[in-house]
Amino acid sequence: MISLKINQDLQLKAMSSCNKEDALHLIRRDASGNDFLGWMDLPQAITEKEICKIQQVANRLRRLADMVIVVGIGGSYLGARAVISAIRGELNEDKPEVIYAGHQLSQDYMHALLQQMEQKDYAIIVISKSGTTTEPAVAFRLLKQHCETKYGKAGAKERVVCITDAKKGALKSLANNEGYDTFVIPDDIGGRYSVLTPVGLLPIAAAGCDIQQLVQGAVDMKIALSHLDDSNIALQYAAMRNYFLQQGKNIEVMASFDSRFYYFIEWWKQLYGESEGKEGKGLFPAGLLYTTDLHSMGQYMQEGQRLFFETFLSLKHSNHTCEVPYDEANLDGLNFLSGKTLDDINHEAEKATILAHEQGGVPTVKLEIEAMNEYHLGQLIYFFEYACGLSAYMLKVNPFNQPGVEAYKNNMFALLQKPGYEDKYEQIQAAIKNLL
Ligand code: PA5
Repeated sequence: MISLKINQDLQLKAMSSCNKEDALHLIRRDASGNDFLGWMDLPQAITEKEICKIQQVANRLRRLADMVIVVGIGGSYLGARAVISAIRGELNEDKPEVIYAGHQLSQDYMHALLQQMEQKDYAIIVISKSGTTTEPAVAFRLLKQHCETKYGKAGAKERVVCITDAKKGALKSLANNEGYDTFVIPDDIGGRYSVLTPVGLLPIAAAGCDIQQLVQGAVDMKIALSHLDDSNIALQYAAMRNYFLQQGKNIEVMASFDSRFYYFIEWWKQLYGESEGKEGKGLFPAGLLYTTDLHSMGQYMQEGQRLFFETFLSLKHSNHTCEVPYDEANLDGLNFLSGKTLDDINHEAEKATILAHEQGGVPTVKLEIEAMNEYHLGQLIYFFEYACGLSAYMLKVNPFNQPGVEAYKNNMFALLQKPGYEDKYEQIQAAIKNLL
């Protein structure tokens, strides 16, 4: 089970100052956003039959493709990327490789991807709950055309899978028209809480990861969090975050000594940033990877403005062992480390950093998982989702909407003269001229 290590004094202060009554809205399901709570029951609600269907389609894609392209943005791709990259690691040569598209608009990235698609056999999983988000929709138009040219309409039908709303949106109509396999994102689950729906599970299964274990980890975490008393680690984490915010620590830095957590931290940033950053409120979620970033941001963390607290996302055991060898000549002077594993050294580096940062005025807490596998990642996902709901309600914001995301979209649509936005074009152009 995940463990949360918070200094006892801090825990007492956080628990006594936090707004538990507001956090309870999550359990009572009686506050704004309560129509988006499907994720809370999800680990148990997802049936064996659904998991089997996801696995079957994933197996077909694995058989057909050397490369699976996952098209989506925000909550529609980050959860899958978090799990796949944590399980596979950076230097993997696992097949099929998983490539992402539609998470940005870089032309050269798309050009390079289209070139790779010439060389390799591929499958496409396109994910959009609304079915209308510009970035994945534009990417999918390009990829679909390539796929149909390369494999024909019938071939594309085998290789394209859509994950979208049950009834509405352009992607739904397109999938119906083309006869693509489709999975549904339930109405009551928002993008960033959707990892345990087909949104996350299909790409994760297509990458060869064990989705049953992922779901089982989430089930066990749900059970572990079922009593909202002071021993509940999600409540402790949420309370601590809000306590630090009240103390003027406006930034939470999620730091890890394992680079496989890079995209997991990206997922966490999106989950908390989009759920809490509204109405002028919310901690700014930032991420660092150590020891790499100790040689870049380490200086700031130690001695810069005291704006933040730090949560260490810590891994107890690596999956493999790597020992520092003995060297007779000892020219590098490292024989004092011989016989130690890289884990031994990394764990001491972590302790040393925690102490240094505490002494430098950065409060720290530690969240530890036993091992990097699907089961423990499933626990972590449910833990962070649950704690995020509690934390946002403590902050008195709706954790499940993201009204602010519309601002750039409206400007962009006006600038691109999307039908319906023509009358705003002049006004937005003039405003931009004043700025740039
Ligand atoms: O968490 C969210 O709701 C968002 O990040 C969405 O996932 C993101 O904007 C993509 O939306 P859609 O799935 O509708 O394309």
